[in-house]
Amino acid sequence: MSLPRLFSGMQPSAASLHIGNYAGALLQWRDMQASHDAVFCVVDLHAITVPQDPAELRERTRRTAAQYIAAGIDPEHSTLFVQSHVRAHAELAWVLNTITGYGEAARMTQFKDKSARGGVDTASVGLFTYPILQAADILLYDAVVVPVGEDQRQHIELTRDLAARFNSRFGDTLVVPEVRILKETAKIYDLQNPGSKMSKSGESPQGIVWLLDDDKAIVKKIKSAVTDSEGVVRFDPVEKPGVSNLLTILSIVTGTEVDALVDSFAGQQYGALKGAVAEAVVEELRPIRQRSLELLDDPGELDRLLKINAERASAIADATLARVYDAVGF
Ligand code: ADP
Ligand code: NA
Repeated sequence: MSLPRLFSGMQPSAASLHIGNYAGALLQWRDMQASHDAVFCVVDLHAITVPQDPAELRERTRRTAAQYIAAGIDPEHSTLFVQSHVRAHAELAWVLNTITGYGEAARMTQFKDKSARGGVDTASVGLFTYPILQAADILLYDAVVVPVGEDQRQHIELTRDLAARFNSRFGDTLVVPEVRILKETAKIYDLQNPGSKMSKSGESPQGIVWLLDDDKAIVKKIKSAVTDSEGVVRFDPVEKPGVSNLLTILSIVTGTEVDALVDSFAGQQYGALKGAVAEAVVEELRPIRQRSLELLDDPGELDRLLKINAERASAIADATLARVYDAVGF
């Protein structure tokens, strides 16, 4: 029996992923591979909807792919490819553009948020039609499962509407996907500013642990994490966001429940907690960093993997696009 097809995409938006991305996305995707025919796409076409430096984009795309492989996305078992390597994405997006209402697209709240700062007059039309490209990404693979966070629900609903509309106008062609809203995954907070989510755009360089940080940098960041003056290790995200964040991180990388960790630190100081977190994170990330750097040092091997995976993706995507082209009269 074939496994249900899953599609997920990620932007090549930084030179390194951070442990928030690792906990909130990568670990989920790694585990879902066993029960799904998983397709993971580094969405570089989406990345150019805002101004990009070409050399930086190219580098980030490779680094993103390398870190996914290093963290356990298996390019032999799953399909992990770069969006621009598969032409069908842009081609299906065009067809879907023609069946999307202007008002329907204008209701997408993420565009409103993303264009709020610079104003709609400076935002690109590509940013406006971003959700339509996202619909093409999903529909090309006949994905039935699209694991996303709550913030993506509206885009997946649009994808479903476009698939159903296409089918009703042109005959049964596209698979209408299920929305699978991921259970709220553990959120990691900025080590220097534990009231805010750890984010690549965070303000303090010491607050973010990157997957490619070396051991020394990781230890330094964790040891200088902001805590509080109570001096008791307990889990209380409101009153003690810094200590609670360290406990969450330790729980994720060791697989031990937070309650059990709290018990194990009874009577101990924050220094002991930080030491344990630093050691556990260093051990967890070391092999990921080493494998990433190996792949990045061997561009031939990374290119080979991405090429094979793009071919596998194209075989699926081209077949869907051929059905669509036939249905619309091309
Ligand atoms: P960033 O916030 O650094 O810009 P993205 O928005 O690119 O990260 O998120 C990529 C993925 O990583 C998403 O699935 C998101 O939910 C997850 N993620 C990002 N930051 C965190 C965090 N601090 N804790 C848990 N998950 C996170
Ligand atoms: Na973000």
